[in-house]
Formats: sequence, structure tokens, C-alpha cells
Amino acid sequence: MNKYLAPSLLSANFYNLEKDLKVLKEEKIKYLHLDVMDGMFVPNISLGVPVIESIKKNTGEDFVLDTHLMVERPERYISNFKNAGADILTIHQEATGDFCEVLTIIKEQGMKAGISVNPETDIHKIDECLKIADLVLVMSVHPGFGGQKFIAETIEKVRYLKEERDKHNYKYMIEIDGGINLENVKMVCEAGVDIVVAGSAVFKEDIRKNIINLNNILYSF
Ligand code: DX5
Ligand code: ZN
Repeated sequence: MNKYLAPSLLSANFYNLEKDLKVLKEEKIKYLHLDVMDGMFVPNISLGVPVIESIKKNTGEDFVLDTHLMVERPERYISNFKNAGADILTIHQEATGDFCEVLTIIKEQGMKAGISVNPETDIHKIDECLKIADLVLVMSVHPGFGGQKFIAETIEKVRYLKEERDKHNYKYMIEIDGGINLENVKMVCEAGVDIVVAGSAVFKEDIRKNIINLNNILYSF
């Protein structure tokens, strides 16, 4: 399976969005990671439905909009994100009661359904919905802010998810999010991730150069 870099717009300069998305497209970025925060599930507030809608309207099929909901009771907003143009909708295990049921509803609405776990959450809590998930997102920092330090222990979850997928022939992609940079990207690829989210490592100084450097490592797998 190919490995993909998913730049997280959380670290972008929104004044430059059109220009920067053009660079991402030129560098063949497929997945665009969109962090939605509600100030409740995490102590921060970020972008939401109107930004996603505007990106979809103006970039069409250029990117897969990989939407990461750090929101309490995300089931309240599924159709809003569908209408805005989200392609993947990832919810947190910790944010809702019947998360397997929420994944099913996301899929019924025609999106790919992702499930995420915080660094301190036991990965076995999501065992029951691995068979229906399209994506599993391993948080490698405490969600809420870009630019934090990678928590190395979370890599065990990636290895576990890869083993389970191989063992049961599950179909989900494995994504890692938080603190990824040129120093640790090789290690997470070796553990088995398919999608690598990077915010501050992409949107600092020369975006094109950062993408090329990270992709050089991803393409070597
Ligand atoms: C954190 C977000 C991440 C964040 C990653 O809650 O989910 O997607 O943007 O930023 P970096 O790569 O800077 O850790
Ligand atoms: Zn994220």
C-alpha cells in the first residue's frame, strides 16, 4: 500500500490558503487534513464547516478532505460535514457513546468513517469497530494544538493495528497525527502507517521543500 502525507491546515497561514493549496496540489498531495475543534472535547477552537465548504467548492476533486473531528458528540454534525464536502469523517472514541453506530451512520451518508484514540486511550476500546472502520487515526500528541512533541509509545498502537488488519483482513487505513517531522517519519512508516499527518513540519518556512523532504522518505517505502 502507498504511503501518503496529509498536511494539516491547523498550522497554515489562512491568509495564504489559495497559494499554499496550489503548492500542495503541484506536489501531488492527495489527503488534506482538517482539524475541527469545539473548545469542549479539546481546549481549543479551530476551523469548521464554512472553511471546509469553501475548500471543497474551490478545489473540487483535487484533494480528499480528511476531516478530524475533535468535537463532543460528533453525531450531531454528520450531515453538516457531509454537505460541506468532507470525504473522510473521523470521530474520537472518547467523544461519544456508541461510536460504532456513529461510524455506521457516517458510512451510510456516503463518507469514509474514521475512528481516533487519544494517547492515553487503550487501543482495545475500539476493537469492536475495526471491522467497519475505513480509517483508524492514532493520536501521537494530546489533541488540541499543533507543534507538540511526538509521544513515541503511541507507535505500539500502529503496530497492533497493522497486525490486526493482516490477521483479519480488515480494510482500514492507519493514520498517525501529531509531532511528525523528518526525524521520526521513517520510524512511523516502518511501524505500518499509511497516512502521515504533519502540520508544523509542513507549514513552516518553505512549504514545497518540506513536502519534498517528507515525501522522499514516504516514497522510499
Ligand atoms: C492536533 C491535530 C493535529 C495537528 C498536528 O490536535 O489533530 O492534526 O495539526 O500538528 P503537528 O504536526 O504540528 O503536531
Ligand atoms: Zn488532526
